[in-house]
Amino acid sequence: MRDSAPQTIHLADYTPPAYWVEDVHLTFRLAPTATRVLSRIRFVPNSDAPGRFFLHGEGLTLISAKINGAPVSPAFVEDGLTCAVPDGPFTWEAEVEINPQANTALEGLYRSGGMYCTQCEAEGFRKITYYPDRPDVMAPFTVRVEGSDPVLLSNGNPVAQGDGWAEWHDPWRKPAYLFALVAGDLVAHRDSFTTRSGKDVDLAIWVRKGDLHKCAFGMDALKRSMDWDERVYGREYDLDVFNIVAVDDFNAGAMENKGLNVFNASAVLASPDTATDANFERIESIIAHEYFHNWTGNRITCRDWFQLCLKEGLTVFRDQQFSADERSAPVKRIDDVLALRARQFREDNGPLAHPVRPESFVEINNFYTATVYEKGAELIGMLKRLVGDENYARALDLYFDRHDGEACTIEDWIAVFEETTGRDLSQFKTWYSQAGTPRLDMTDSFADGTYTLTFRQHTPATPGQPDKAPMVIPIAVGLLSPNGSECVPTTLLEMTKAEQSFTFEGLEEKPVPSILRGFSAPVIVTRKSDNAERAFLLAHDTDPFNRWEAGRALAKDALVRMVKEGAAPDAAFIDALGQVLADDTLDPAFRALVLHLPGQDDLAQTLFDAGVTPDPIAIYAACDSMADAIATTLESQLASLFDAMQVPGTYSPDAEAAGKRALANAALSLLSRRDNGARAQVQFDGADNMTQQLAGLGALIKQGKGDEALQAFYEQWHDDRLVLDKWFGLQCSLAKPDEAANVAMTLTAHPDFEWKNPNRFRSVLGALASNAAGFHHPSGAGYTVMADWLIKLDPVNPQTTARMITVFETWRRYDADRQALIAAELDRIANTPDLSRDTAEMVSRIRG
Ligand code: ARG
Ligand code: ZN
Repeated sequence: MRDSAPQTIHLADYTPPAYWVEDVHLTFRLAPTATRVLSRIRFVPNSDAPGRFFLHGEGLTLISAKINGAPVSPAFVEDGLTCAVPDGPFTWEAEVEINPQANTALEGLYRSGGMYCTQCEAEGFRKITYYPDRPDVMAPFTVRVEGSDPVLLSNGNPVAQGDGWAEWHDPWRKPAYLFALVAGDLVAHRDSFTTRSGKDVDLAIWVRKGDLHKCAFGMDALKRSMDWDERVYGREYDLDVFNIVAVDDFNAGAMENKGLNVFNASAVLASPDTATDANFERIESIIAHEYFHNWTGNRITCRDWFQLCLKEGLTVFRDQQFSADERSAPVKRIDDVLALRARQFREDNGPLAHPVRPESFVEINNFYTATVYEKGAELIGMLKRLVGDENYARALDLYFDRHDGEACTIEDWIAVFEETTGRDLSQFKTWYSQAGTPRLDMTDSFADGTYTLTFRQHTPATPGQPDKAPMVIPIAVGLLSPNGSECVPTTLLEMTKAEQSFTFEGLEEKPVPSILRGFSAPVIVTRKSDNAERAFLLAHDTDPFNRWEAGRALAKDALVRMVKEGAAPDAAFIDALGQVLADDTLDPAFRALVLHLPGQDDLAQTLFDAGVTPDPIAIYAACDSMADAIATTLESQLASLFDAMQVPGTYSPDAEAAGKRALANAALSLLSRRDNGARAQVQFDGADNMTQQLAGLGALIKQGKGDEALQAFYEQWHDDRLVLDKWFGLQCSLAKPDEAANVAMTLTAHPDFEWKNPNRFRSVLGALASNAAGFHHPSGAGYTVMADWLIKLDPVNPQTTARMITVFETWRRYDADRQALIAAELDRIANTPDLSRDTAEMVSRIRG
């Protein structure tokens, strides 16, 4: 409950803190419903910005407070307290009581599966004790944990421990959002790492006893991450220990708390029989991401939350580089662009569009978005492309050197690139302030051996930003001769104007352009090329990304014509697909990507952009009959591919084996349309790993043959939460359009539907939304189930509710009937009494 209207916070209003913190001592006396937190904090006035003494605090019961040892009576004000303080440095002491057991929002100190854990980013520390809870206030922490649990963890290095207590000291100054505490009956999977300067680090992944067999892969990924950051960025680890803890109830994927990363169990635990190839890959990237934060986020942090992309964009970029190095770089790039388009473009082209560095917010938790993270990473990639690899490395060295121990801004970040290269990057900075996805059009001409490419850029209006300035767009271009050989290798064009031409001389004939190679900028190319050119690029382009992109464009064009004009599945497209599948020089993972049809949400946006109101049911039908046509035409080829891609022997999650399984399972999904699920049933029955078992199950469900397998799967796995999430999810995401809402409703009544657990909630409601035709069924039943559950979850867990409500962000694309149904649900949510600040902000932005 709040007593006044939520405030909008503006970047322009930033003021430095009036007091610095020199030192923090905390003592936790843990008890499930009445934990005492004692704090002793040394404050020093900031002579550059004198002001009122203010400490954030939320939901705390103050037991006592002292300044320099003398009791004081602070005044409670909005969001915290204030107090008369002496001139000069002083010591603040407080004792507060909190109730971790009642904390279902999973922010601050809470209970999960019988353990204590914390999540403080962004503003959760104020739910633990009174403190200047802002990232520019950094301090060393000493923490004493008292409790009956055998394992008591906090940040930094262990100092001492005894029966019922443990003391930790983190020597690295850090903001409160990086604070963490964990206590529970946990066991550790241990290992060690020696840094290149010879420092030994004890590594541990802490889990409940039954999960110990699921830690090996995460540990291996951690060690590879530590090694990679030394080799590639010259960054070494800086404490004696590095601890990871798996928790069941977690709003996000994981959290980079200094020396004590807390992970959603789904983002760290994996064994071959319970986790899929995709799970392993995701775990590897999240372990790397959180580890890399140690330098990009922790040692150098953000001055304020508007600068979130400073750490997140850079750290996502670094984890993407890591995965590209550990696996296949082209496949990784395609996967990343698929995710960018599915999540970030969707956001950027709807009511929630915001700049990579937002200028205002009501609830900062609502800005942990695809735009801040994934588009933020694209901006780093563009910078690197523009300045070159060597300058990028020099700029990063300067960044680490100059700003170690500081809380920084995007201006600091840009400055290291400007100083390293002597370039003026002021126009580049527009990428941080201007929302929306630029559209890039292109025309070409050829005369007297000179080939001219002319580009036009335009960024559509977004909320609060009607007019857009031209951006710096790095356009990687290669040219191919009509005979299929490359006549101009990849060249980087730097577009800075609204319209700009580039010429290539000395060519014998008009080449075929391959533009935006490697997806060199996060833009939408609107140029209409013809299918002959796409087929040519699919066959000949030397750039793997654009090769895939050409296949994608062919698929989209064929599907759009089916939806718009009732066209038959395009035989030329299916033929081109067959040729790619037959090319054994191509990585199986790459071929699997080509075989996957564009997503139905992506097609809806494509149609909308083309001025057609998308009908999700028609899109579903088109994809279905395209899949039938592919399966029929390529049946024998798919069958031999399916056999050829079987991976014998013991399961290993490595990229090569995973790529083969991906291709085999893409083939299986199509072949099941021909064999009535026979192969899928065999695979399901005989699977010795989750990838194969789940692919078999999915194919059976799609053929309407999944009932027995679902039952068997449930019986086998109902004690494994993470696997049970898959069981819930698959039924919702694969349900037929007119059954999906009902399936979701039935599953929410299942005794295992623990709706307060975010993973479980998402496994049903998130999966329902991912089923575009089911969610957008004209009955509106999908919208109603969703809204019912969001209303129910909001008072319990605002963060997960506010994240999930983005399933409605595309509502303006649809017809008047669907819009009216969604608007009614949004209004019903908006009018719910005592709606959280999180959800209230989101619903009003989405509703517009
Ligand atoms: N910093 C964490 C990460 O990127 C995510 C924290 C999510 N917090 C939130 N309030 N949504 O790894
Ligand atoms: Zn992060």
